[in-house]
Amino acid sequence: MVLDTGHVEAPRLILLALAALLGWTAWRVLYNQYFHPLAHFPGPRWAARTRLWLAYMEVYRGISLSDIRYQLHKKYGDIVRITPDELHFANPEAFGDIYNAQNKWDTDFRFYRAFDMDAAALCMVKYEAAKERKDVLSPLFSRQSTIKMQELLQTKVDNFCSALKAQHATKMASDLSLGFRCLAMDTITEFCYGRSINVTSTPNFQADLVFALDEMLPVITLSKYFIVIIWLVRNMPRRLASYLGSPTLSSLFKLQDMLKEQIDGILRDPAQLEESLYPTIYHRLLSPAAHKGRPLPSKLSLFHEAQVLLHAGAGPVGMSLTTTVHHVLNIPGAQESLRAELRSVWPDINTPPRYEVLEKLPFLTAIVREGFRLFPGGASLPRVVPPGGAIISGVHIPGGTVVGQSFTFVQHAEAVFTDAHAFIPERWLGENAKPPEASTVAFSRGPRSCLGINLAHCEIYLTLASLFRRFEMRVDTSRPVDLTYKEHYVASFPGEHLHVFCKPIGV
Ligand code: HEM
Repeated sequence: MVLDTGHVEAPRLILLALAALLGWTAWRVLYNQYFHPLAHFPGPRWAARTRLWLAYMEVYRGISLSDIRYQLHKKYGDIVRITPDELHFANPEAFGDIYNAQNKWDTDFRFYRAFDMDAAALCMVKYEAAKERKDVLSPLFSRQSTIKMQELLQTKVDNFCSALKAQHATKMASDLSLGFRCLAMDTITEFCYGRSINVTSTPNFQADLVFALDEMLPVITLSKYFIVIIWLVRNMPRRLASYLGSPTLSSLFKLQDMLKEQIDGILRDPAQLEESLYPTIYHRLLSPAAHKGRPLPSKLSLFHEAQVLLHAGAGPVGMSLTTTVHHVLNIPGAQESLRAELRSVWPDINTPPRYEVLEKLPFLTAIVREGFRLFPGGASLPRVVPPGGAIISGVHIPGGTVVGQSFTFVQHAEAVFTDAHAFIPERWLGENAKPPEASTVAFSRGPRSCLGINLAHCEIYLTLASLFRRFEMRVDTSRPVDLTYKEHYVASFPGEHLHVFCKPIGV
């Protein structure tokens, strides 16, 4: 028999390719369910077969990933296979097994690439690369450096308080959900770039940039599952993006232009950095000494880092403040007790105390800690178990498995905190107080933990102190706040904002 291999028509080729793809997919699905090293872990059958199950739940059905996890653990127990190669753990002890100083584990690229900023520390998948970058930036974010810069942070808080006063003068309740995020943005941009974007001065805190960042959240979630979205967003002409999105997107483009222009300027003329009154991220990122002979970051890397710091630094601070203030205002007498404590170190209203004084106040500190605990901030940040495998929650987990635990499984666990969903600052006070480090779970642990932990603490202490010392606050009950959270990368609060009447205190 003679086989004619000379001419295969295009349609037949396409059919063959489709058949091969179908065959491969069928095999992959079968393999994932029956032969995969994680095949014996419990979870929904479709979750074991394909990542598309989670995409369907999160993107198509719009269920918050945090709710999906809680439902799965309720049904399947402590360890759940949530995608073919990923396990999530409910037992709070797993947290220390995954996120600790010894584990130099890589992160999961599918999660972090969704930001399309892989040349920034936060999104670097490899432990070594992220460590090098963090070592360069860390001195800027150290406790010492933050303490030195606190006057700068206080000026941002003062501007914010002036805006609250002006809003109160018109008898309106202030939207603190937006206000705190504006304040955090002004602070982070001043701190990182040496240029504040001054969104706190936007009427009623309705800053387009805040809305634009929210608008990007579902896109980031979609990108986790479909890489093509990243490519589309990256290459889409701006006019088309603005047309498809909302008008607020143009504010994001403006910010990007500002950063690009700033970076171009500094690269053209590095001497500009010497004119700055205080160090910025560029002083560190472009310092040959800080890089110890390694090449300096590319222009793209500078751009990614600058953007990521805004995302990482502004959202969580703003939302954590919203959570804390909402809870304090819900406890009768709490703001009065806090004010009394603040007056003891801040008698003259025109002379705010320093951060070092504030952080020694027991009740304020308890409130800050309890606020961090109840803030549902961190997602389940995926880490990849190294080739030898690891013991997590007492079980051997094979190398290559993606593992994670959402922080709420520790922070809101009844086994760790009695009456875990209630805001009880007293749990951090007195003889039986929880150890302070229990509140820092919110910043993660280990080598990939938060770079901005000192800055965040300083911002939050200064803001809460000014707010409660300078204003008598009353929640606008005509607009009941809804802090039900939706998890994207960090929590977002899509419900009704926190509106508060902030009446200035004269003395
Ligand atoms: C209440 C405020 C904050 C909370 C709860 C918080 C929480 C976190 C968490 C949970 C991580 C780990 C992320 C991961 O593993 O993917 C993280 C990382 C990070 N945070 Fe924060 N953060 C806060 C404020 C800030 C601030 C003010 C900055 C300053 C710019 C900042 C910069 C960063 C950076 C750069 C990383 C990446 C570190 C790495 O990948 O090694 N954060 N943060």
